[in-house]
Amino acid sequence: MSTTLITNLAEVFTADAQHTRINNAAILIEDEIISWIGAAADAPAADHVIDAQRRAALPGWVDSHTHLVFAGDRSAEFVARMAGQEYAAGGIAVTTAATRSASDYDLTRLLLGRAAEALAGGTTFLETKTGYGLGVEEEARHARIASTVVDRVTFLGAHLVPAGTDAQEYTDLVCGEMLQRVAPYVHFADVFCERGAFNEAQSRQVLTASRKAGLGLRVHGNQLGSGPGVQLAVEFGAMSVDHVNYLDDADVSALAGSWQQWDPATRSGAAGTVATCLPACDLSTRQPFAPGRELLDAGVQIALASNCNPGTSYTSSMSFCVATAVLQMRLSIEEAIVAATYGGALALGVHDLVGSLQVGKRADIQLLNAPAVAHLAYRPGMNLTGPVFRAGVLVAG
Ligand code: NIG
Repeated sequence: MSTTLITNLAEVFTADAQHTRINNAAILIEDEIISWIGAAADAPAADHVIDAQRRAALPGWVDSHTHLVFAGDRSAEFVARMAGQEYAAGGIAVTTAATRSASDYDLTRLLLGRAAEALAGGTTFLETKTGYGLGVEEEARHARIASTVVDRVTFLGAHLVPAGTDAQEYTDLVCGEMLQRVAPYVHFADVFCERGAFNEAQSRQVLTASRKAGLGLRVHGNQLGSGPGVQLAVEFGAMSVDHVNYLDDADVSALAGSWQQWDPATRSGAAGTVATCLPACDLSTRQPFAPGRELLDAGVQIALASNCNPGTSYTSSMSFCVATAVLQMRLSIEEAIVAATYGGALALGVHDLVGSLQVGKRADIQLLNAPAVAHLAYRPGMNLTGPVFRAGVLVAG
């Protein structure tokens, strides 16, 4: 066993249930696990000592919603949107065409580059989705490639009905042969339940088949307008519903109801459906921000994620998402960090492993080139990420 002490930390924000903050702190790592956190003055001896030089420490980001398996460029679509054109799901087809023509080698290199960018920005646990294949062979290829690079893969064959295909026939394909082919590579299944994508009946069919296949469920819901996405997600016990821009009172109540068996003080009990807010996407599509403040006040567990994708949110910067959530969605800095760490971990069902700095958890730790975590929102747009540790190993910075 090898021990490493990270000491001379100006501040540690643990993202535990009490939002514990320790000044003049140290963290002891035993192999890949956190074994002690406390005042630097009380720190135990260790084989190796790292002087953090008055940096702040917090958990590595858990990015629970990205679409990183893609090729091609859609900056022209972005420019048109900034000139007033509305975002529509149809842009997915543009990326699908470019991605289908990319070789395994090119697609893997693009994905590796994006995963490395995320890691350099402090993301130590990464989910990504398929969804730019939209055919049996392509979805299986993307799932296979993704499974070699990221921590968790979500099957999103139900992202868009390919042009010239009958919607019901395509939904049947997603729920049949496609699901069977991707299942060995993925942990979750998702459906884009939205006007222009999949309607309620088709979404229900995808969720039913995916549940039967033993996959965890997620829903893209209520992104471009009100709709049945949130209610379906809760009804099916989905682990998350993502976007959540257009919610009515019944949606918020349904989400809050799903957390009734959960004790936030001990973080135990039956988890409900996490509402994943995607502030970078909201900015890039000029949608109203997801009501993160209202959801938290109603007792809903939320996550913040980057939604890095070529259409609606081409950034993997979780620090940017945290700053935006504080500045625009009225979250406190602590709430935003917890949503981007523990919240993401809850959405992926890995909250016993990662998402907070606690004894026994994996040592996924980011140091900031700043003395306090408040700098993440106080200095928006600055790259404050310093050394990043994943399972106790320095992986970036
Ligand atoms: O999460 N909403 C659906 N999927 C992506 C957008 C994909 C695209 O436009 O390429 C999203 O925003």
